[in-house]
Amino acid sequence: MRRRTESGSCSEAPGAINSDIENPHKVYEKAETFWSRCTQDEDGMLGGIPSLHGPDVVGSTNFLKILKKNLIVTKFDNALDCGAGIGRVTKHVLMNSFDSVDMVDLVDELVATSADYIGTDDGIGEKFVEGLQTFEPPIQKYDVVWIQWVSGQLTDQDLTSFLQRCIKGLAPNGTIVIKESVSAGGKTLYHDSDGCWTRPESLLLKIAQNAGLHVVHKTVQTGFPKGLFAVKMIALKPVHPVEEDDD
Ligand SMILES: C[S@@+](CC[C@H](N)C(=O)[O-])C[C@H]1O[C@@H](n2cnc3c(N)ncnc32)[C@H](O)[C@@H]1O
Repeated sequence: MRRRTESGSCSEAPGAINSDIENPHKVYEKAETFWSRCTQDEDGMLGGIPSLHGPDVVGSTNFLKILKKNLIVTKFDNALDCGAGIGRVTKHVLMNSFDSVDMVDLVDELVATSADYIGTDDGIGEKFVEGLQTFEPPIQKYDVVWIQWVSGQLTDQDLTSFLQRCIKGLAPNGTIVIKESVSAGGKTLYHDSDGCWTRPESLLLKIAQNAGLHVVHKTVQTGFPKGLFAVKMIALKPVHPVEEDDD
């Protein structure tokens, strides 16, 4: 799977970023074309390495358990799965913990397939078809906003403003989780086929900080095959916490 392997065809970002950043619409169009043609199953969501699914689910579930144990996540009413695709994370991770899970993805066909893949509407809230670069989460709704393997689809600037809108979407004491592949050696890599960047962790953290977030817990995914980018799970809270409504 090229997006998550260290050895795949990709370029160091400076040139690619500069040319693409002038026209982020082109990058987003490329992504939409790529993802609307992928297979609508776990294989497609995991870029051709379906064996990632098991360890990924265990890693995310354990991460959520630690957030609960450490009182980082204290309510389990509503979660939002960003870049949800067919609902793999929704079904196997979030629905086991949250009363209701909303989903957002750029690709209509993937969101449509999620009904069959998940197999029940019970525990599914709203389904939004929109790019995260423009999506505005409902205000103060979510105990957790989960952003997995999609942050690299946004330019630095759009990711910053998306995270700022996510902060507005958090319920009091809400948490944003980013689960993402990160590059080594401090370089951002651009993948032309699906218009996606793999950033170093330092840049991801800088973007989160610029958006007004700070890290409350982080860990690395284990159990993946060798040769893939490292995958980090990062829990973030707003620097200025969301206040309870006084009604
Ligand atoms: C690698 S898949 C990950 C899917 C899911 N998060 C998972 O882990 O199974 C990337 C997903 O992000 C979606 N996506 C790509 N660009 C997006 C964007 N700009 N806004 C929202 N979703 C996007 C794709 O349609 C695809 O479903």
